[in-house]
Amino acid sequence: IQKIGVLTSGGDAPGMNAAIRAVVRTAIYHGLEVVGIRRGYAGLLDGDFRPMPIESVGDIIQRGGTCLFTARCKEFMTEEGQRRGYERLVEAGIEGLVVLGGDGSFRGAKRLSELGIPTVGVPCTIDNDIGACDANIGFDTAVQTVIQAIDKIRDTATSHERTYVIEVMGRHAGHIALAAGLAGGAESVLIPEVPFNLEDVVAKLQRGVARGKKHSIIVVAEGAARAVDVGHYIEEKTGFDTRVTVLGHVQRGGAPTASDRVLASRLGAFAVELLLKGETAVMAATQNGALVAVPFDEVFAAVRQPAQELCELAEILSN
Ligand code: F6P
Repeated sequence: IQKIGVLTSGGDAPGMNAAIRAVVRTAIYHGLEVVGIRRGYAGLLDGDFRPMPIESVGDIIQRGGTCLFTARCKEFMTEEGQRRGYERLVEAGIEGLVVLGGDGSFRGAKRLSELGIPTVGVPCTIDNDIGACDANIGFDTAVQTVIQAIDKIRDTATSHERTYVIEVMGRHAGHIALAAGLAGGAESVLIPEVPFNLEDVVAKLQRGVARGKKHSIIVVAEGAARAVDVGHYIEEKTGFDTRVTVLGHVQRGGAPTASDRVLASRLGAFAVELLLKGETAVMAATQNGALVAVPFDEVFAAVRQPAQELCELAEILSN
């Protein structure tokens, strides 16, 4: 192959730029031409392409977001849209495509592969819910952002002897909440994958106060409950002075951590090597630290679940 495309799709994740840089520089190292497709599959359908010479990815390894822009494209979920996308790639002479994104983006990539364009996915989502791999690009940075916020909130929570409910991202997944709750020393962590009872949360808070605790932090994943509802419930049942913070999209931005930059560099480069080897419909990933190609169908069947051991540990250490 001589020319490949690269696009970012779905929610952005810190480290996407580092992965784009690795794709472009590895491809050029191997004598390939690279085309950047902007705004994900929406840009593919619109033919929003631009050549990516080596200097186009200078000074981006440290930046959050994605220099290729991103979108969630409903039209590309239809058979007609997918065929049109395939035709656009053929017209542009693109013989392989690297897709940086999550589950939905990989489903589109799988379809393009079936139509005849080799595709390789690179797992990028702060939610960390793509399974069959060690970690997703962006998760480490998002957790770091949340911990910094929790530490700051803890300062004021202590001064005012308050209870804080902090809502973090994760529509269907509690990985950010669990990791940040554990690392931030939260009293309770509520995640969508594990059933919970607000009466238990209140009872635990009351036990803590009876033992002399001056403040409490509860981390809730947006997919488990809305922090504002949890806050009202707690205040109503206990009378404790309670405040709510919804961290929102601040978690999606910011400079990627070293660990996300290294992962993004490795997976971006490996994705190009997989295309050169003739692989298709696979995700570039690490498993136990080693680079592996995981077929998309295995990825779809392996949504990451929170480790039971981490859930138990968060519970034990918060008593
Ligand atoms: O999938 C990443 C994510 O940040 C989720 O945690 C969150 O629910 C969703 O994207 C938010 O999407 P949007 O940026 O479209 O509001």
